Amino acid sequence: MVIETKKSLSDFIESEKKEKKIIGLVPTMGALHDGHLSLIDFAYEFCDLVVVSVFVNPTQFNNPTDLDKYPRNLQKDEALLTTHNSKTVIFAPSAEEVYAGKIQSESYDFGSIVKFMEGEFRTGHFDGVGSVLKRLFDIVKPHKAFFGEKDFQQLMAVKKLVEITNQEVEIIGCPTSRNEFGLAQSSRNFRLNDDELKLAEIIHKALTKAKLMFEDSDFETIIAEIKTMFENEKKVELEYFSIASEADLTPTKIKDKNQKYRAFIAAFVGEVRLIDNMALNY
Ligand code: PAF
Repeated sequence: MVIETKKSLSDFIESEKKEKKIIGLVPTMGALHDGHLSLIDFAYEFCDLVVVSVFVNPTQFNNPTDLDKYPRNLQKDEALLTTHNSKTVIFAPSAEEVYAGKIQSESYDFGSIVKFMEGEFRTGHFDGVGSVLKRLFDIVKPHKAFFGEKDFQQLMAVKKLVEITNQEVEIIGCPTSRNEFGLAQSSRNFRLNDDELKLAEIIHKALTKAKLMFEDSDFETIIAEIKTMFENEKKVELEYFSIASEADLTPTKIKDKNQKYRAFIAAFVGEVRLIDNMALNY
C-alpha cells in the first residue's frame, strides 16, 4: 500500500497503534535494493508494522547533479516491497507535503560526530538529513527506526538528533548488507556499469586490509598502505580514508587500546560517489 499524504498516514498509524501494534520506520530515498529489504526484515523482528518512507530529500544533497541523477522508480519499489512483504506500508510524500512550502534545512548541533568525513566533504548534508528525519518522525511517530551501518556517521547523527530534539523513537543500527564481492548495497550502485561494479570492489578490499593490519601496524602505516592501493587504481578516486574512534568520529593517527575504531572511505567510481566503513577492532 502506498500512502502519499501526512494526514492519511497519521490516521492509519493512529488506528494501528490503537490495536497496540509496534510501528517501525525504515527511512529511504527509494531505488530499493537487497540492503533495504534486509533492513525491513530486521525491523519486522521488533515491530508489527513497518513503514518504509520513499523520499529523495533535496536538502541533504550538496551537489545538484547528484540529486538530479539519484535513481527514482516508485512503481518498481512498490512492486518489490509488495512481493517481499505485503504488510509493509510505503509513505511516498511530495516535497511540499514534507516541507510545507519552504524546502530548506534547519541547523542542528550534532557536535564532533559530523565535523569530518561526510560532514567535511558534503557541506550541510547532516542538517538536511536531520531536517527530513525530524519531520518523518513527527509524521510517522514510530516506536523504532532502522538505519544501516553503511552510513555509520549518519546513524550516529540520527541518535544525536533524537537526543537534541527529544523525539520518542528508538534508533536501531543494522549491519551493512553486501553483495557476494563485499560491495556494500547502495542505491547509487544502480548507476554503475559492470566494469565500474568490479572496480568498486576495491573499497571493501581496502577496508578488509585495514582491519587485517590493525593489530600489528600503527595508523600512519595503515593509512599510507590504503592510499597506495588507490593510487595504483587510477580509475577510482579516493576522496578520504580515515580511521576514527566510534565515540567521536574524529579521524586520528593515535591508537588507544581502550577505544573502538572504524575505518571510513569515500571514493568516486566514475561519476558515482560511494561510501563504506568497517569496524577494525570489535
Ligand atoms: O540514508 C538515506 O537513504 C537518507 O539519508 C535518509 C535516512 C532516508 C534521509 O533522507
